[in-house]
Amino acid sequence: MTFDFERPVDRAGSDSQKWRKYAGRDILPLWVADMDFAAPPAVLQALHARVDHGVLGYAKPLPSIDEAVVAHCRDRYGWAVDPAWIVWLPGLVTGLNVAAAAFGAAGDEVLVATPVYPPFLSAPAHQGRRAVAVPMARAGARWELDLDALDRAVTPRTRQLFLCSPHNPVGRAYRRDELARIVEFCARHDLTLVSDEIHCDLVLDDLAHVPAASLSADAAARTVTLMAPSKTYNIPGLGCSFALVPDPARRAAFVRAAQGIVPDVNVLGLVAGEAALRHGEPWRQALLAHLRGNRDLLEQAVARGDFPGVRTMHVEATYLAWLDISALRLTGAHAHFERHGLGLSDGAPFGAAPDTHVRLNFGCTRATLVEALARLRRATAEAR
Ligand SMILES: Cc1ncc(COP(=O)(O)O)c(C=O)c1O
Repeated sequence: MTFDFERPVDRAGSDSQKWRKYAGRDILPLWVADMDFAAPPAVLQALHARVDHGVLGYAKPLPSIDEAVVAHCRDRYGWAVDPAWIVWLPGLVTGLNVAAAAFGAAGDEVLVATPVYPPFLSAPAHQGRRAVAVPMARAGARWELDLDALDRAVTPRTRQLFLCSPHNPVGRAYRRDELARIVEFCARHDLTLVSDEIHCDLVLDDLAHVPAASLSADAAARTVTLMAPSKTYNIPGLGCSFALVPDPARRAAFVRAAQGIVPDVNVLGLVAGEAALRHGEPWRQALLAHLRGNRDLLEQAVARGDFPGVRTMHVEATYLAWLDISALRLTGAHAHFERHGLGLSDGAPFGAAPDTHVRLNFGCTRATLVEALARLRRATAEAR
């Protein structure tokens, strides 16, 4: 079966957050992390069948979806997951908030390597904790966690490290040895590692995703892994996610923090999530090929100097490119790009200095990206 990632689906006028923001304006929405593609046919088929059943009452995850998660972790990552570890969640921002609340006490600290997806910085504060931002290091051609800086940031109140793996927005797919050093750091300071791996199946390079918890018994015991089929299969609007918490005490604390606040996953989310995990692989392979093409187009244009003053590092994973625009010396950079027809994500909420970075979502048709790059060329030419 072939899948078509070039056929535009008209999202203008729909309920899409991404598209509604710029409704009626000639601004390409390349911000929030969803893709402009229909979900895999196997997912849509399963949803149609479930809707045809007609009754949409309260749902509980069937054992078959737990089995799908276990099989997925075994087959994709070689990781033996016990179904008892699974805590179903209606979203991973929820998972970050529950984790922030579950461990330590009010006023305790959570280490966060920046730049990072903004809820990593806001979730601790929402839950009465303090996010301590530690800038990442640029090591040659890639971003890395700065473990020396993280060491220096540890205080007697530090309880957790929030890791984004693969990393939004810098596109890193962390290698086994890097993850081992991160786990060792957490062990040394007795921290809970909260590893958000929502982008785990969007590794574009020829690399395997390594779940941090799969490294060792100690890694498993101190880690809360957050995963979901939502990013990969483009079903984030259905809210189907899960935490894997091997340690019984940590799992109990996590479940306690969610109690009475966090609702069950909705009935259609469960159906879509299971279908994606079980039947989505051919679609995912075709998607990865399309995303690699988009990434390469963007990276080649940057390397050719099409956008003087714009730098980026190689995107190993995700469909998000983190553009360093500091050399443009813009004031009001985000609005500048909007005036040139580009709706990017402003880098400041990710922890970047104002007007230094923007994030571009290339989960779109090639035609949309080509148009976006033409606009980026004009926007950078007129910034100088
Ligand atoms: C790292 C990361 N975590 C979580 C989310 C959002 O998860 P959810 O929509 O399930 O709350 C995103 C969305 O972009 C993300 O990039």
